Amino acid sequence: MTSAITQQTPAQAQPGLYGGKSSRRITVRDIAAAKRRGEKWPMLTAYDAMTASVFDEAGIPVILVGDSMGNAHLGYESTVPVTLEQVTMLSAAVVRGTRRAMVVGDLPFGSYQEGAVQALRSATHLVKEAGVGAVKLEGGERSADQIRLLVDSGIPVMAHVGLTPQSVNAYGGHPVQGRGEEAAQQLLRDAKAVQDAGAFAVVLELVTAELASEVRRSLHIPTVGIGSGADCDAQVLVWTDMAGMTDWPGGRTPRFVKQYGQLRQALGDAARAFADDVVGGAYPAEEHSFH
Ligand code: KIV
Repeated sequence: MTSAITQQTPAQAQPGLYGGKSSRRITVRDIAAAKRRGEKWPMLTAYDAMTASVFDEAGIPVILVGDSMGNAHLGYESTVPVTLEQVTMLSAAVVRGTRRAMVVGDLPFGSYQEGAVQALRSATHLVKEAGVGAVKLEGGERSADQIRLLVDSGIPVMAHVGLTPQSVNAYGGHPVQGRGEEAAQQLLRDAKAVQDAGAFAVVLELVTAELASEVRRSLHIPTVGIGSGADCDAQVLVWTDMAGMTDWPGGRTPRFVKQYGQLRQALGDAARAFADDVVGGAYPAEEHSFH
């Protein structure tokens, strides 16, 4: 499929999932229909209204207000400190900035691990206060009860298995998941468990390409890959990684990230040009002044 981001109009970019004359938002039914058609789709994160509006206009059908906001937007070292109020506030901004995309709000660490009732309370808050169309939470078998109650209560859930960044302290890093027979079998059980609990899609993060392919073939809900090879139904990237905005420690971009722009360089150049003009007296010029 041609990159949605480089196209002129959303309809050209996404003739299936995003295209047509409709101006309504993408729903879980559209996602299921795309899966039946065998159509791949892109997902990006966003954390503010203006960036989200750019992605919406570019034809990105699903926008995730990820707890990756911890690293990518709020200056933390991981997703762990992110709070439900932060996700709610930024999700509301992303909903306001979009017309077509399904906006998925991420349940942050500590907002659903206690059990299904806590998960329902947190997800209800996010849906009512921010207006998101779905929520995402991490975990396979261990989160099945939470997913089931949310779905039974009318809240669509995107699940997230493989590497689950909220457990970074338990992993002690970001290891590739599913290597070895036992780990592979557990991942397959996790993916099956979230599907059985009613999730409408499942993120596979940092899973070997072979295993991700096997998971996709064993499920009827779409798999959304990140660092999990090409054989997924959808692909997601953190927008700052995708656009070349992230300042990677030591300049080492992870292998799975492809940069489709050099925004960090472009924004720095703009800021330096502005500073030079102010210091040199070239800005504001006559045309920027009122009389
Ligand atoms: O928080 C996030 O942005 C995510 C994606 C990387 C899937 O969970």
